[in-house]
Amino acid sequence: MKSIAICKSEELINGGKGVRFPLTAGSDDAVGFVIRYANEVHAYLNRCAHVPVELDWNPGEFIESSGLFIMCATHGAIYQPETGYCSGGPCRGSRLRKIEVSESDGTVYWHPDDYIQAVIA
Ligand code: FES
Repeated sequence: MKSIAICKSEELINGGKGVRFPLTAGSDDAVGFVIRYANEVHAYLNRCAHVPVELDWNPGEFIESSGLFIMCATHGAIYQPETGYCSGGPCRGSRLRKIEVSESDGTVYWHPDDYIQAVIA
């Protein structure tokens, strides 16, 4: 499985800021993001399930003030950090598009799949 480095593990703290990374979704240039929640890293396509806009209100700010949910800055949909399931808001019952991610030797990596691919330089 191809692995692409995103950031150092220490850059991600539980419930803190996420790190954005470039990718291709289908044939579109897009952005992914990774967060740490309950000690685990989770990554998603940065695209709301309601309207296809990015979620963060400032770059890397995905988690709302309680630290429990990913929140879309546009209309306030809230998503469970572990699954991407939308548990409140206009797209309730939908999900963010998950991106495989792993962590080893102090580095966080993402793994392309059939739809989410690396940007060709
Ligand atoms: S665009 Fe995300 S909740 Fe509407």
